[in-house]
Amino acid sequence: MKHLIDPTDLSVAEINDILDLAQDIIEHKEEYSEVCKGKKLATLFFEPSTRTRLSFEAAMMELGGNVLGFSSADSSSAAKGESVGDTIRVVGCYADIIAMRHPKEGAPLFGAAVSSVPIINAGDGGHNHPTQTLTDLLTIRREKGRLDNFTIGLCGDLKFGRTVHSLIKALSRYENIKYILISPKELKLPDYIITEIFEKNNIEYREVTTMEEVMDELDIIYMTRVQKERFFNEADYVRLKDTYILDESKLKAAKKDLAIMHPLPRVNEISTKVDEDPRACYFRQAENGKYVRMSLMIKLLNEAGAGIPVPFDER
Ligand code: CP
Repeated sequence: MKHLIDPTDLSVAEINDILDLAQDIIEHKEEYSEVCKGKKLATLFFEPSTRTRLSFEAAMMELGGNVLGFSSADSSSAAKGESVGDTIRVVGCYADIIAMRHPKEGAPLFGAAVSSVPIINAGDGGHNHPTQTLTDLLTIRREKGRLDNFTIGLCGDLKFGRTVHSLIKALSRYENIKYILISPKELKLPDYIITEIFEKNNIEYREVTTMEEVMDELDIIYMTRVQKERFFNEADYVRLKDTYILDESKLKAAKKDLAIMHPLPRVNEISTKVDEDPRACYFRQAENGKYVRMSLMIKLLNEAGAGIPVPFDER
């Protein structure tokens, strides 16, 4: 049984296959509209979500399958004290594949250990968000035409931002990517990522505290919101939440083909005026999330023996 818990559960070849299939789905949507007929996705969201849950659900519907699930722990038997393990065992009797978000790091891994169906980590605490990473990779490939040879600025809450952690893990396996880490000192990237990924693999990185000092160097800027829900202290959140606001004036120094990304939701960190800039691709990024999740579910269901027909394989 193959699950997706951490971005490194997928080899680079497997990631590229998922992105290729997603691209084929984008180009031939009608050919995929029935391939998952009779299949069921369960979305178990113990934490709030708009994009991830709804794009998973739209993805399964657009493949011709069905969806069941819950959108908060309060509306499930977790509120009565049921364990994650028991929940997963039971839902495996009702669904063919499970997408699960949980505030506790490691909960999806624990769920996968007892699951009879594939588990997809839809975000676990401040740890990982591998399907956002697939979304980001598809977006970079569509916007820039490549997944190598660029400089990416990661800006905002690099401490708690699971999308950043997952993206670095996946991108670090592609060639010649330079990282500029833009954060206040309180929200720096965790040391384990610096040592285990950048230093161990001799990957170029720099830590700075303002976006202005590096704007002209960037091929991609990946903005993130300060993760209010992970702070222990409200006063610290209030002090840090507006550290970075990307606006038209800061973009004057940027490259003409900069890609402006954000996993969303946005709070204040990108001015809404930037939305009209053709370099702003965060809404296209959110749409890519649906296609990449369609592709991923086909791949995982077929790994589990579902025998879903894949038009792309016939071309
Ligand atoms: N990007 C993302 O994970 O958004 P949601 O929290 O709305 O799912």
